Formats: sequence, structure tokens, C-alpha cells
Amino acid sequence: MLENIKELKKQIENIAKTIDSEIKAEEFKLEYLVKKGKIQKLFDDLKSVVPADKPIVGKVLNELRKFAEQVYADVSEKYKKSKSDIALIDLTLPGRSTWTGTYHPVMQNIDEFVEIFKSMGFTVAESADIEDDFHNFDALNFAKDHPARDMQDTFFVEHERNDLLLRTHTSPVQIRLMQSQTPPIRSIMPGRVYRNEAISARSLAEFHQIEGLYIDKNVTFAELKATMISFAKRMYGTDSKFRFRPSYFPFTEPSAEVDITCYLCGGSGCRVCKHSGWLEIAGCGMVHPNVLKAGGIEPDEYTGYAFGFGIERVTMLTTGIDDIRLLYDNDIRVLQQF
Ligand code: DAH
Repeated sequence: MLENIKELKKQIENIAKTIDSEIKAEEFKLEYLVKKGKIQKLFDDLKSVVPADKPIVGKVLNELRKFAEQVYADVSEKYKKSKSDIALIDLTLPGRSTWTGTYHPVMQNIDEFVEIFKSMGFTVAESADIEDDFHNFDALNFAKDHPARDMQDTFFVEHERNDLLLRTHTSPVQIRLMQSQTPPIRSIMPGRVYRNEAISARSLAEFHQIEGLYIDKNVTFAELKATMISFAKRMYGTDSKFRFRPSYFPFTEPSAEVDITCYLCGGSGCRVCKHSGWLEIAGCGMVHPNVLKAGGIEPDEYTGYAFGFGIERVTMLTTGIDDIRLLYDNDIRVLQQF
């Protein structure tokens, strides 16, 4: 009997060290201190002890019960203490908010472009970022020795076919549309483009363009102008002024660039517009007959216009940032402002 008591005491001592919560303290009580607990069981066994030994065994057993009660009292006291610790937390403090991403200004612009052109009857078309030399250059009437084909401008893709590259503009999507559809074709083509250029405050090696193409019978330059102006008025407001400057692109003839009044100075001249009062927003022109032919369309029967916007440039205008790299630093504090 004395052995059993000693054994149980050892057990209680060991368990006492592992009690670290209210639940464990209550489990301890249930195992040792209640009526059906292990200590009471020993008291029940006292009956079978010979009368001469009863006083001594009873005394040791009483000591064990006291010891167990003290263990329980200590741990439940400790638990009460931690309850009062909880009360020290200031429940009136505001909670921690979680950070979420934001609608990227470049994406906002693309979506706005798409919405406006869709409402003007344009559909949306896309194709792959990896192109072949034919669609990116040849079909668009680039001469074989055109400088844009140079290694310095184009990223070539290493492959057993040696004519693959990362498209340098979205214009090849025009050719793919012409090859796969019969006119009338009226589409815009948003997408990512790549140029082997040094990254600076005004240029990136990877950016976005939106191409536009309209081919039908008797499409005129006047329609091109009207389309560009009504788009720009909706995008930039009716107060903006526009001008068309003669320009050159191999795939259009005649070609023009579209300028808009500078967003910062309103036309009086500043650092952003290099004191001209104007900012360039797009290139455009009438589709060159050679391009129509390369796309399988008869130039005597159809005419068309095309245009191309650089989205990051436009986003610089709409956000007012003066370093294009800020758009891709992924600093939420910058992007969240737009
Ligand atoms: N592809 C031209 C570029 O990357 C932009 C462009 C200019 C597209 C005139 C056109 C256009 O469709 O007509 O700079």
C-alpha cells in the first residue's frame, strides 16, 4: 500500500510539471481529486490494511491528498493570473488591416481603351508574344535592311527555326487578322511588346501597345482622323486639343502622329512636353497596299487605316508620373494612388 502511495506521488509530481493551461489543470483535478479519482481509490483500499498499520498509512495518504490539492491550487492560481493578463490588452485599439493588391494603372488604361473602342464598333483580337520575322517585319513592308530589324532593337528567340523573335510591336496582329478574316475588319489588339533597349525614365524593354485596324471598301483618312479624335475626347476630355503631324511608318502611307495638349501645362510649355505644349499619343495612317497584299487582301478593292498607342506613355499622362519605371517597381504606395 505504501508503495502504491509513493508511486502515485511520483506520478503527480511529474504531471504537475506539464500543466500549462486551464484545461490541463481541470484534467488533473478529474484524474486525482474527485470522488472517483485515483487518491479516493486509495482511501477506499485503506479498509483492507491491517488495523495496526492503518494510522500510519492513513497519515501518508492524507499527506498525498494535501500535496495533490496544493498542486491543483497552484496551477489554477497561475491560470487566473493569465486571465488577468488578458484584461491588460487594450480592446479599443484598432485592428490590423490586411494589405490587398490594386488595379494596376496600365491595366486600367487598357480596359478603358477597350471599352471606348468597343462602343465604337471595334472587336478585340490578340495573338502570341513570340512572332516570326515575316509577321513582325516582312509583311509590314519593312525593307530587309531596315534598322528596326537590328540586333540592338529586337530580341531573337533561340530555336532551330532562326526567324523567331519577341514581337517588337502589336502590328503583326494586323497581318494575322487579315490572313484569317475577310473585310470588313474592325479590331483593336492590345498586347505586350519587347525591345532590346536600355531602360530609362522614358523607355522600358517590355511594355504594352494597342493596335487598331479598320479595313473595308472606301475607308478614308478623314474617318481615321474622326475616330482618333472622338476616342481621344472621350479618353482625355473635350477640352483637349489634337493635331496630326505627318510622319513615316513602313506599313502606312500616308502616315501621321497624333499629339494632344500637354496634361501638365495645358499647352503653354513645360518640362514634361519639352516646352512644345504637345504630347505624342499615337502613330497612325492608311494601310500600305503592300501590307494588304501580304495579308491576302486586294488593295484595288479595299482600303483601311491603322493606329498604334503605347500604353505606358499614355499612362504617364493619366497618372502624371514622370518616370516610367515607377509603373513596374511594384511599390504598392505608388500604385495605390491611381
Ligand atoms: N507599330 C508602331 C510602333 O511600334 C506603332 C504604329 C504606328 C502602329 C502607326 C500603327 C500605325 O498601326 O499605323 O511604333
